[in-house]
Amino acid sequence: MCFATGARRNCHGTACRRSPPAAACRASNRSGELRPDAGGALLVALPIASAQSIFDPASPATESILNLAVLVFAVIGLIFVVVEGVLFYCVWRFRDPHPAPPDNPSAAAAGPELVEPPQAYGSRAIEVAWTAAPTLIVLFLTLSITRTLWEVEAAVPATAPDDNALYVTVTGRQWWWEYTYETYNGRKLGFITANELHIPLSDADQPRPTYLTLESADVCHSFWVPRLGGKMDLIPGRTNELLLETTEAGLFLGQCAEYCGAQHAHMLIRVIVDTPQEFESWLENQQRPAVDDPDVRTGRDAFLSESCVSCHRVRGTPAKGSYAPDLTHLMSRETLASGMIANDPDNLRRWVRDPQSIKPDCLMPAFGLTDQQQEQIVRYLETLR
Ligand code: CUA
Repeated sequence: MCFATGARRNCHGTACRRSPPAAACRASNRSGELRPDAGGALLVALPIASAQSIFDPASPATESILNLAVLVFAVIGLIFVVVEGVLFYCVWRFRDPHPAPPDNPSAAAAGPELVEPPQAYGSRAIEVAWTAAPTLIVLFLTLSITRTLWEVEAAVPATAPDDNALYVTVTGRQWWWEYTYETYNGRKLGFITANELHIPLSDADQPRPTYLTLESADVCHSFWVPRLGGKMDLIPGRTNELLLETTEAGLFLGQCAEYCGAQHAHMLIRVIVDTPQEFESWLENQQRPAVDDPDVRTGRDAFLSESCVSCHRVRGTPAKGSYAPDLTHLMSRETLASGMIANDPDNLRRWVRDPQSIKPDCLMPAFGLTDQQQEQIVRYLETLR
């Protein structure tokens, strides 16, 4: 199965290709993130180019973090080589007992193996050196880390007209992500979506930063999209901020990086970086109320008469729940259950029938709907584009 491994690697290893193509694998492979040049075996051993690799940065922040990581690895690698080198040199150089000194005939008589090498205590020069060198190294690393923190933690400016900036509030929930789109380019938005975060592409002449305000509705989570930004925790009762900005369009994968309960590993993130035009049309669609298709009236009525409405919101209908993902434009999302499975009719039907069979312990129970009710509700949900 891909669910277990896919959560960590999002199906870029060989596990997926060996196993039957589970729905989750299809969902992730559809991303097109599998690089044609990446041999499967190499990818498992060295996930350098995988979709969630810190070694393939796509934003100024992740580039700074990678530069720091390489620097720290170089410094500690050098220390490792020097220390191990001296150790092995000593083992090799002094592998034989020191010959007995001629002025100690008894030691000489006892045989060479009982004679200690000359003992030298206290060398001011060596002590100064091994105190000063680590101090300088630690100071150097501290300054480097401080500079990186400075570069990564951009202060969030107030929103202004024509600022080309997107402001989104991210709420971590067990076990999915809620995105409240606040403003873009100074325009008020005010719609809510889930799990798949669309952001605009920056280009050389026009930066389009996305400022995330991170909050939690229950326990601690951590928002981590390795190619776009460092980890940032979502802590109940506290607000954190994160800047995402990239000049690379496409899909970026991430996941919750703080253990938050049974389905922590299935709290996946998809960030879709759209061109400004694509982003505008996506915004336009998301801002509209839900489609009201007369062909699926029975399904809509079935949905509205069930307790779906106490948790889910469908804008333009009496469903105003705020506890579970907003379904107004459910079909504009590629996946269900926070990136676990592809959003196709089969999976939607499985989910409506019994969410617990897909994501055990999630807050949505099986409602014991009849087959006919399930079918009607799924047909209705499929119109929410
Ligand atoms: Cu949310 Cu781990």
